[in-house]
Amino acid sequence: MTEVVLDAGRVAAALEVAEGTGPWYWLRELEAIDTDAIGPVELDRETAAERLELLGVPEEDAAEVLATLPSRERAPVWWWCLERDVHRLLCHIGEPDAPRGCWPSFEGNRYDAAHRCHFLHVALAVMPSTLAYFSGLGVPGEIALASMRDLARHVGIHRRVHHSTGVEAAWWMTLCLRGEIVDLGRLQYNRFTLGSCESPLWYRDEEAGERGPGFRPGDPCLGVHIPEGSPLTPDTVQASLEMAGDFFSRFFTVDQRRVATCMSWLLDEQLAEYLPEESNIVAFQRRFEIVPGFYEGDDQVLNFVFRAPADVDLSILPQRSLLERAAVAHIRAGRQWRMRTGWLDLPPPGA
Ligand SMILES: CC(C)(COP(=O)(O)OP(=O)(O)OC[C@H]1O[C@@H](n2cnc3c(N)ncnc32)[C@H](O)[C@@H]1OP(=O)(O)O)[C@@H](O)C(=O)NCCC(=O)NCCS
Repeated sequence: MTEVVLDAGRVAAALEVAEGTGPWYWLRELEAIDTDAIGPVELDRETAAERLELLGVPEEDAAEVLATLPSRERAPVWWWCLERDVHRLLCHIGEPDAPRGCWPSFEGNRYDAAHRCHFLHVALAVMPSTLAYFSGLGVPGEIALASMRDLARHVGIHRRVHHSTGVEAAWWMTLCLRGEIVDLGRLQYNRFTLGSCESPLWYRDEEAGERGPGFRPGDPCLGVHIPEGSPLTPDTVQASLEMAGDFFSRFFTVDQRRVATCMSWLLDEQLAEYLPEESNIVAFQRRFEIVPGFYEGDDQVLNFVFRAPADVDLSILPQRSLLERAAVAHIRAGRQWRMRTGWLDLPPPGA
């Protein structure tokens, strides 16, 4: 029997990907990869099950991931995607400023389980290389694993929102698989260079230059991220910032000032009109010096407060907490939430 040579067109037809959509561009990117450069992927059911357990993926989701696990023989189309996606992540492990590339968002129940689980198959195949990267730097195994468990968190969000197995925000998870995201207590961090594709909204070059080392395009920088979870109490935030001060000076030393930046709806000063002074969010805001300018943030607030899409009918949203009520009232009043950038200096090592 002659083997069918796959290309983006054939794969798109098999996966019912329409031309011009996000997944179509993803397949075009995969097709452009030099086939000779692609290494073999080994991922059998037993190994996959062990890794799912290590990541803390709940049983119900793990079962679906295993049931859809492709092989070259069983699911050649998905295998074609898997090999290429694994390759492009492996190429950029530990390269903070490398572009993320195009990743499809197979979230929600309009996709079948094979689509929704594809990114998890990729993650399971890449995981040992990510852990090896951390280990090569001397990063303690428990920090490396805690960082990779962000995947399970995002599987949990998909389950809560869609009641099915999948990964919320796979594009973000690519950084996790490249070993860029480090979980240190309550917060997560990543390294990047100011002016690179991971850079937040920032000072104009002239002002950045006047502020000096640490603020200029090309300077090393850190991103601070707030995964959903336990309350953002000042103590847990302080402990995490101290851990980050130690961690980055030990494993990613730089010989100049390196500020930590955060770009988030949580830094919108308008929140303080609704939340009390002593709320965790307002206390978090006070730690940062805010950079001028903003991006529109309604979609961020609707996502992070309600896990709802930007076009949601506001009248169906729950109104239990102060923030839930504020989120809706603000938009109903014709106002707009904002994403702001803030920065701070991490505590010095040993603080
Ligand atoms: C960051 C986070 C932990 C803060 O929660 P917190 O520590 O409870 O914050 P506060 O103490 O300031 O909360 C003030 C009020 O807002 C409510 N609130 C805070 N975050 C909420 C959320 N995501 N959804 C609904 N209500 C929320 C609290 O319950 C409280 O209301 P109440 O007094 O009526 O009980 C929480 O918002 C969260 O998990 N967000 C998702 C992750 C995220 O947004 N990351 C940033 C991505 S850019």
